[in-house]
Amino acid sequence: MNKLTIAIDGPAGSGKSSVARRVAATLGYLYLDSGAMYRAVARKALRDSIPLENDARLESLARQSHIELKPPTPEQESAGLKNRVFLDGKEVTDEIRTSDVAQAASRLATIAGVREVLVAEQQRAGAGGGVVMEGRDIGTVVFPHAELKIFLDASPEVRAGRRWKEHQEKGEVVSREEVLEEVRVRDQRDRERKVSPLVRAEDAVLVDNTAMGIEETARVIVMLAREREKELAATVGRAK
Ligand code: CDP
Ligand code: CDP
Repeated sequence: MNKLTIAIDGPAGSGKSSVARRVAATLGYLYLDSGAMYRAVARKALRDSIPLENDARLESLARQSHIELKPPTPEQESAGLKNRVFLDGKEVTDEIRTSDVAQAASRLATIAGVREVLVAEQQRAGAGGGVVMEGRDIGTVVFPHAELKIFLDASPEVRAGRRWKEHQEKGEVVSREEVLEEVRVRDQRDRERKVSPLVRAEDAVLVDNTAMGIEETARVIVMLAREREKELAATVGRAK
């Protein structure tokens, strides 16, 4: 079977993790959350009180960090966990999911040197193919030759509403307006930064899931993937 490299990019709350995880499980591919790597370095910077304006220190922090993404155990998976994240050997899966870490990650993600380190790590992790990687620059920078690229989007209100619901479920008190503002600030920074901004690759398929559930969205992407797998098999067959 010809396994693909699938790149899924899009703004916060567009459903990348939930959808990518499901697509990977259906196709028997490896799922990798590149954003978790930016979050892990951000967590470390906050913990070590490194000023978020100090690009040189943040870059050397990224170079000195060892980040590993691992699949969840079957129990964790049935509880909805997508990737386990280890920072310097210690699990930080839950700690990296706070708003503070998200904002710090998006600041840190503007630094070219930090991106260089993490992109190289992502390319190594996905080198074998048969992988669904999600983030902001997967189809444009990390895997520009990915056989299938998806740009996942939804309206800002719906995306913020999804994130707000997650906070509610965790018992965190925060208003919908605050979450919408946070999502807007982070989207703007991700779209306007000089290095590897969030932009739809020319050859990416735009999937707007404002009015679609996770399963339906994943089904559309799996369908596209199976078509690409067949096309690839036919091309390889002809070349033989
Ligand atoms: O990874 P990303 O920030 O793009 O989004 P996510 O973490 O996968 O999804 C954010 C939240 O929206 C999760 O709680 C999902 O369950 C939910 N979601 C949804 O309700 N409908 C969708 N079509 C996609 C995601
Ligand atoms: O889950 P959500 O979409 O809210 O965020 P994430 O994917 O965990 O990413 C956190 C931050 O890391 C983003 O706001 C981006 O600034 C940065 N990031 C990036 O620059 N490039 C990637 N490939 C993935 C994440």
